[in-house]
Amino acid sequence: MSHKPIQFKNVSLSFHQKLCFEDFNAQVLPGSRIAIIGSNGSGKSSLLKIIQGTIEPTSGTAHVPPDASIGYVPQIIEDFDVLSGAERLNKAISLALSIQPNVLLLDEPTNHLDRQNKRSLMRMLENYSGTLLIASHDEELLNCAIDTIWHIEGGRIHITSSLYEDYKREIRLKRAAIEEELLQIKQQKKEMHEALMKEQERASKSRSQGEKSINQKKWPTIVSRRKANRGAETAGRKKAGIAAKKEELLNRLSEISLPEVIKPKFSLEAHELRNLQLVSISDGAIGYGDRFILSEIYLSLSGCEKIAIIGVNGCGKSTLMKALLHDPAICKTGSFQLPNPSDIGYLDQHYRELVPHETVLESIGKLVSHLSHEEIRRHLRGFLFCKNEEVNAKVANLSGGEKARLSLAQIAAKTPKLLLLDEVTNNLDIETKEHVIQVLSEYPGAMIVISHDDDFLRAIKIDGSYEIRDSKLRPVTWK
Ligand SMILES: Nc1ncnc2c1ncn2[C@@H]1O[C@H](COP(=O)(O)OP(=O)(O)OP(=O)(O)O)[C@@H](O)[C@H]1O
Ligand SMILES: [Mg+2]
Repeated sequence: MSHKPIQFKNVSLSFHQKLCFEDFNAQVLPGSRIAIIGSNGSGKSSLLKIIQGTIEPTSGTAHVPPDASIGYVPQIIEDFDVLSGAERLNKAISLALSIQPNVLLLDEPTNHLDRQNKRSLMRMLENYSGTLLIASHDEELLNCAIDTIWHIEGGRIHITSSLYEDYKREIRLKRAAIEEELLQIKQQKKEMHEALMKEQERASKSRSQGEKSINQKKWPTIVSRRKANRGAETAGRKKAGIAAKKEELLNRLSEISLPEVIKPKFSLEAHELRNLQLVSISDGAIGYGDRFILSEIYLSLSGCEKIAIIGVNGCGKSTLMKALLHDPAICKTGSFQLPNPSDIGYLDQHYRELVPHETVLESIGKLVSHLSHEEIRRHLRGFLFCKNEEVNAKVANLSGGEKARLSLAQIAAKTPKLLLLDEVTNNLDIETKEHVIQVLSEYPGAMIVISHDDDFLRAIKIDGSYEIRDSKLRPVTWK
């Protein structure tokens, strides 16, 4: 079961001009339990792919010994098209485990999982005795089964042997200390600036007084000149001292300043539909062919209501979404009053609305032909696609979080009457997730969300929720 260590020597990885990380040296001993963390697009999935052997580092060597048998579960599972998100994941995990691997690489494995499935996955990982490397943003998962953190940040991979919770606390303390020091420096700078202004004022006063007295010949000329020169000298010395101090402070500041945390800044416009009835379904039933998945659907939604659809994996949540989108693959009976699909902003949990061979720019440009190039770039900037290489990147090469961001950018490019969001927080890093929560909690329009995350549903302030259970849709009392 054991294997020789996996070794990284001076490993660097870049794509075009983008540097993910460099000078990475580490060895993975058998039985290690490593979490790979970092912002969207930092290089977590790529690092797993280097170990799996599907991509090569840009420089350096990653040596995986021949006795390491690797089970790998990718972040976005594109196979098994007819299965639900969780069913795909379970299938991929069973496949990965079928070779009895002694190294297990899991990329965001809790996406799509309901509470129960997530708990059983975590239990399985706790009992797994091989080597484990998991890339994830899911803090609950990171707190379980992990004893080492690889944090990709600022082009480096920082290794810490600790539990995630302790690592987070350590980072929080470090940040708080730096922020405190920054505050002090700011205060010092303010005081220095005030002192400088005062000194300059005094110097100019004493100069003009000197000149005045020379002109008025109140004092013997020779004394006044000396006094004026002395004043100027003192001011000059102080000024030089302050400049040196300022330089020293600026140097310290650049040493201790935190790596910049870049946060998204997008917003979502809504139609002013208010109490207008937008969705009305009565005695509806939906399914595939002659197999009904869901019946007794009664659902109504006004232009400013937000509701959640909840239910265990595989119960038919996404099928209901597809029915709302008039998907021809879904058969319906009963009465359905729905908005036109072109008026719906839909986020697919597998980002299937994105076209792999298009660039980021093209994916938005085709939706908003009336906008200028500059306006499209501005729109994309809010979703953190800023540099030329970022907007010219092919969709197929985007990371999971970047795909999620681009899908949101597509929705925001138009002003939909209804938002349908299927697992919108999957793959998002902490900063982006926080921003999405803020945008959705302030969104004044109509929205139907699917999520397994109760905290998220609470945070976006939904008005009510429906649960799918035993093939029926029922309103639930929201606590
Ligand atoms: N084949 C490729 N060609 C060009 N760029 C690529 C390629 N593969 C990945 N990238 C880019 O490299 C960066 C790292 O991608 P990666 O998928 O490793 O990120 P990640 O840390 O897993 O992100 P996420 O948290 O969103 O899953 C991203 O900016 C991505 O767009
Ligand atoms: Mg990834």
